[in-house]
Amino acid sequence: MSETNLIHLKAPNCWINDPNGFIYFKGMYHLFYQCFPYSAQWGRMHWGHAVSKDLVHWEHKGIALYPSKKDDRSGCFSGSAVEWNGKMHLIYTGVNYLQEDPENINTCLNDQFQSAQLMITSENGMTFDNLADKKTILPPIEKPHMGSKTHTRDPKVWREKDTWYMVLGSSVEEKGRLLFYRSKDLEHWEYVSHAEKDNFGWMWECPDYFETDGKKVLIFSPMGFLKEGKAYDSAAICMIPEFDTKSCIMHLPDEFQFLDYGLDLYAPQSATDAEGRRVLVAWARMPEAVDGKWNGMFCIPRIVEVKNGHIYFRPHPNMTNQFTKKITSPLEAGKGGYRISVDMHQGSEINIGGYRILYQKNRVYADRSAVFAGHNEIRCQFETPEIREGNHLDIYVDANLIEVYINDGEYVLSNVVYSLSNEIQAENYEIFTTET
Ligand code: FRU
Repeated sequence: MSETNLIHLKAPNCWINDPNGFIYFKGMYHLFYQCFPYSAQWGRMHWGHAVSKDLVHWEHKGIALYPSKKDDRSGCFSGSAVEWNGKMHLIYTGVNYLQEDPENINTCLNDQFQSAQLMITSENGMTFDNLADKKTILPPIEKPHMGSKTHTRDPKVWREKDTWYMVLGSSVEEKGRLLFYRSKDLEHWEYVSHAEKDNFGWMWECPDYFETDGKKVLIFSPMGFLKEGKAYDSAAICMIPEFDTKSCIMHLPDEFQFLDYGLDLYAPQSATDAEGRRVLVAWARMPEAVDGKWNGMFCIPRIVEVKNGHIYFRPHPNMTNQFTKKITSPLEAGKGGYRISVDMHQGSEINIGGYRILYQKNRVYADRSAVFAGHNEIRCQFETPEIREGNHLDIYVDANLIEVYINDGEYVLSNVVYSLSNEIQAENYEIFTTET
């Protein structure tokens, strides 16, 4: 398994979901991900592994983690990576099914499973000894008022001064919450505090907390948050919290942004890049496998910045620098797809192979109905909040994912699509493709 992926990292002929263990380690970007290697549907989770020198060209490295211990016998769920003493440490959730589905032992029945937190250590970030180097660092939670024995997962670990911190997503009495722990050695962890908020769903998946240019950012994916009755009732959201490192007390504001207004992206994870910038990737949820073979891909790595209380997500410069070759039609585009650059005005519309983008009342609207056939259970129409800063769009188009960046990341709206045509209807636009 060592095929190369350009621009969007895609599932290597199987199923993938969340990005995991994203880290710049010894001169190389490592992106692990939730993976069921045997078919294009979700099952007993493994960690797939891909590496890149530039966040643009990715090479698949096969499976890094697989179920091997009692505590992760039913799956290696999401988690994060840190470097310490020159080694890579992957901290993740191990799942143990208490009631296996006899017809599909890769899934469990009636939510009967328990979750522990584990760590595996690797000298070089390339080889992982699943038998010798795994340790359980937090057993399943036994105090229901503190967190759920079942739904506590997705550790994100970071260091401040001489202490390690961990945030986990959890649930108590049908309400999502975050649990904060700290440690001196990554192995022994002490519970410190929790944070919660009304009306933000029943369980919070994949929390991520970091500072960028001194500004704090919290990202998580609450389940049961969107109430419109369509198939995805969860979404990735972000906000600017207050956080006191000493007490691990976090206050969550009422204001939040969606990570992406196309509502397909989920379970994002961030890392710092070679220049120390905060960079993030997220899973693009796909209702159908492509060619019946692969399901799941990641968005373009995005730089996260906070300006005037607003969180921006712009394409990583390594990516923007790729799309420099001017072309006149999508038919001339290379393997990495193409970028459309366009200024919108009130009432204007672009049609990209069936995907419609409209600009009205200072908002960007998108409609994918014509390129999403057979998926009525999932939303097709989307809109951004009111835009403040201009009306420039950079639209990255790949066969199954369109990413619309508005005003260099003021908002982003990305959608999964199928069967795009090569026709573009728009005014005053330019198209660029990659040199390779
Ligand atoms: C989010 C998620 C995580 C979990 C993983 C399992 O998509 O449900 O909370 O760790 O996927 O694959």
